[in-house]
Amino acid sequence: MNKTVLVSGGAGFIGSHVTVELLAAGYDVVVADNFSNCDRTCFEGVKKITGREDLPLEVMDFCDEKQTRALFAKYPIDAVIHFAAYKAVGESVAQPLMYYRNNLQSFLNVLQAAQDQGGCNVLFSSSATVYGEPDKVPVTEETPRKSATSPYGNTKTMCEDILRDTVKASEGKVRGILLRYFNPIGAHPSALIGELPRGVPNNLVPFITQTAIGKRECLSIFGNDYPTPDGTCLRDYIDIVDLAKAHVFAVTRMMEGKMKKDCEVFNVGTGRPVSVLELVNAFEKVNGVKLNWKFAPRRPGDVTAIWADPTLANTEMGWKATRTVEETLKAAWAWEKHLAGK
Ligand code: UD1
Repeated sequence: MNKTVLVSGGAGFIGSHVTVELLAAGYDVVVADNFSNCDRTCFEGVKKITGREDLPLEVMDFCDEKQTRALFAKYPIDAVIHFAAYKAVGESVAQPLMYYRNNLQSFLNVLQAAQDQGGCNVLFSSSATVYGEPDKVPVTEETPRKSATSPYGNTKTMCEDILRDTVKASEGKVRGILLRYFNPIGAHPSALIGELPRGVPNNLVPFITQTAIGKRECLSIFGNDYPTPDGTCLRDYIDIVDLAKAHVFAVTRMMEGKMKKDCEVFNVGTGRPVSVLELVNAFEKVNGVKLNWKFAPRRPGDVTAIWADPTLANTEMGWKATRTVEETLKAAWAWEKHLAGK
């Protein structure tokens, strides 16, 4: 019998790409989402890509303990990948309680249900934001975590600790992997799923594609006086399909008992720093479009430079990012055009 993976927040940007890769690897998947920050587009796209019209979807809220328990009672869940969370940095500064309540409560309920069913493999979707402004780049998993620059970031650090403590107390019954994502960008090569931000995008690549298509007038590049080669920030942009595949490696590692510790941490990045300006130039070049952009003041809370040392994920999990920034930016543009019906 196939193993079953519950994907909380499975209809969102990362969740939908992960669902596609899990199905391709032969797992049964249950998608659960409350559609608070996405619509049905990506879920329908997943069904089309995989041909799985029967893909189970549970419309529910993980902040509701009863609903969460009922879900674990309904399916034989071997692993859960927890994405269901709010993720807008600025909004979290304005509404911290909403972020702490939602992001912590939902994870507590998932862990309680996982523990109460006698154990489970739990993969938590963490972020490079837990490294704050690092003293040294690239960052390894041993790089000390720093206080995050937002309540959103704090919820990632707190959930990491909650999982670690739960694993420890469970004496091997609950196993955990923390994947720390760098900057996921792009879309599935089919252009049937991708990033679908509501309102004005906070993140760079959706802002670029929306400007290129004419939805936004002009991209602001936040800061050109950073101590970097071209004055703009450096990040580790990772292709969403590469990132999704890392989850399959991690889940399989847990299922096959290959973990070295009951709670492991992996950076999920490429190891390649790219500046904002380089990314904008690459987008224009590879897609043959002219982008309207200007320099603007720094955005509060941004770190100067962060990129991953992905050695541990490469050697221990056997996973490696394979796509170039150009391929990824092509896919992002194809998705934006698909949305516009072009
Ligand atoms: C942010 C969050 C990170 C979160 C991630 C989710 C922080 C500091 N950052 O990462 O925790 O996991 O989003 O995707 O908490 N930029 C522009 N113009 C724009 C938008 C962005 O110049 O319109 C620049 C930013 O200044 C930054 C780079 O592009 O240098 C990437 O920004 P963004 O895509 O928002 O990601 P991060 O801030 O790195």
